[in-house]
Amino acid sequence: MYTGKRALVTGGLGFVGSNLAIRLARLGAGVTIVDPCIKGCGGNPYNVRPVRDRVSIVSLDIADAEQFAGAIAESDVIFNLAGEVSHVHSMQYPERDLQLNTVSHLRFLETVKRIKPGIRVIYASTRQVYGAPDYLPVDESHPVHPVDFNGIHKYAAAMYHLMLSERGEIDGIALRLTNVYGPRVALSAPCQGFLSHFVRRLTLGQGLEIYGDGEQLRDPVYVDDVVEAFLLAGSLREPQSRVFNVGGPEVLSLNRIAGIACRLAAGVEVCHRPFPESQRTIDIGSYASDSSRIRRELGWQPKVRFEEGMARTLEYYRAEWPHYLDPDDLEPRCQLPEHRGVVRRLRYAAV
Ligand SMILES: NC(=O)c1ccc[n+]([C@@H]2O[C@H](COP(=O)([O-])OP(=O)(O)OC[C@H]3O[C@@H](n4cnc5c(N)ncnc54)[C@H](O)[C@@H]3O)[C@@H](O)[C@H]2O)c1
Repeated sequence: MYTGKRALVTGGLGFVGSNLAIRLARLGAGVTIVDPCIKGCGGNPYNVRPVRDRVSIVSLDIADAEQFAGAIAESDVIFNLAGEVSHVHSMQYPERDLQLNTVSHLRFLETVKRIKPGIRVIYASTRQVYGAPDYLPVDESHPVHPVDFNGIHKYAAAMYHLMLSERGEIDGIALRLTNVYGPRVALSAPCQGFLSHFVRRLTLGQGLEIYGDGEQLRDPVYVDDVVEAFLLAGSLREPQSRVFNVGGPEVLSLNRIAGIACRLAAGVEVCHRPFPESQRTIDIGSYASDSSRIRRELGWQPKVRFEEGMARTLEYYRAEWPHYLDPDDLEPRCQLPEHRGVVRRLRYAAV
């Protein structure tokens, strides 16, 4: 399916992007990664070590797409995974989130549609666009009402892809991912999702903390299943739909998720804590995806159950933790530089 094809993977040194880039390279695709490892995100060059001699890496922001126009022109398909995942960061540094999740994508797509009109672009959207669900499981027709800047900015970027597709300028598809977990998730980046926080603590031999009563539901999806969804979306011939939920195979409470993870890690315990203020205001309660559309139209189905996926994840970090944890900084804090570059350039351009 991908042998001999050229794929551009933005955010390809991060968690999901690197797993996708490795799979593409192993399938025989020529892979170019665009990722400058932005501070506070999950980029890590070690992630692509298994295929390092088979991928090219462009260390630039996607906003600077003119500088890698040649790689865009050569590509048969673009997997657009560049982005900032942290909801907490988005509330602390909204302009940074705006730039990384929205302005950069606007600039990127402006170049893509000119250099390679009509190219398939698969965008990594998020379940966060739905906000606190009105009903479960959440299908693609559920109202969009994000509870944080991250959800709003990611929604805007997805809409750029869809609007340009309606105009025939690109051929975009947006995958709305639920909570993804697995090998290569960043353990040192601060304020990431609860699953990377759990993996980090278990890797350090620490117990898990759950905010609230732990009865909130989630449908975690293993990264290999997510990679499969991207591959299917990248090779789909005539899409009936352009937005797909990508959910996990089981709906579990946080108590159950933590219980399974602790059992696998043996010897650590779970405790409950009240929500910190920064988390309480953006909590969405329970979430579960209705993934029937992607199952029907792409034939995708998640295969890895949580217990199996978490066992594989913990095994990965048992061997690889020195590449993911800085022994001098075992308590990462949510302190980041503002990332003002692109917005400032746009303001200058306007005067
Ligand atoms: N991990 C999840 O649970 C999850 C859930 C829903 C959606 N997503 C989306 O999937 C994508 C990948 O997530 P991840 O978990 O791999 O995150 P990650 O932080 O591990 O990887 C994201 C990568 O994007 C890069 N990046 C950010 N902005 C960039 C820019 N402007 N130009 C070039 N590179 C840039 C970062 O350096 C990083 O390496 C993100 O867009 C995220 O919003 C992830």
